[in-house]
Amino acid sequence: MSAGETVSIAADTPRLEAVLQRYRRVPASLISVLEDLNEEFRYLPRPVLEHVSMALNVPLNQIYHVATFYKVFNLAPQGKHTICVCEGTACHVKGAGAIMEKLQEQLRVSEGGTTEDGQFTLRSVRCLGCCALAPAVMVDHDVHGELQLDETARLLSRYADRPDDA
Ligand code: FES
Repeated sequence: MSAGETVSIAADTPRLEAVLQRYRRVPASLISVLEDLNEEFRYLPRPVLEHVSMALNVPLNQIYHVATFYKVFNLAPQGKHTICVCEGTACHVKGAGAIMEKLQEQLRVSEGGTTEDGQFTLRSVRCLGCCALAPAVMVDHDVHGELQLDETARLLSRYADRPDDA
């Protein structure tokens, strides 16, 4: 799925069914199904949740309860890349706040927001578990430790769309 693209339930039904098929015989598989769909679509659109509700015979309000309870699930479209700025104590002391401000300025989004081009979602997290590398920022699954303020632009350019990224 390309950046900024939304889900069309008709066009995306095969992807949705592939995930459901994976858990067809697994009891109490709702969370696993939602995890895989969240990974597949980068968020959980309402039509997808309605489809899951029918397929698993679970009331839609129960699905929303689970989807809103766990922070890992997204109910709004997410950027192609997720930037998590650690604002735990060690990172805070070493300037995480300034890094967050700089990224907000460069991306023109608030914390929790997604850039207009759908490239980046910017979040803060409590601790990435690598305090010795403070201040730390995670982009997708990559941790960037001891990040300096003047390195944020270069960091963004490493992840911004490249021709072979489509
Ligand atoms: S406080 Fe930032 S990695 Fe622990």
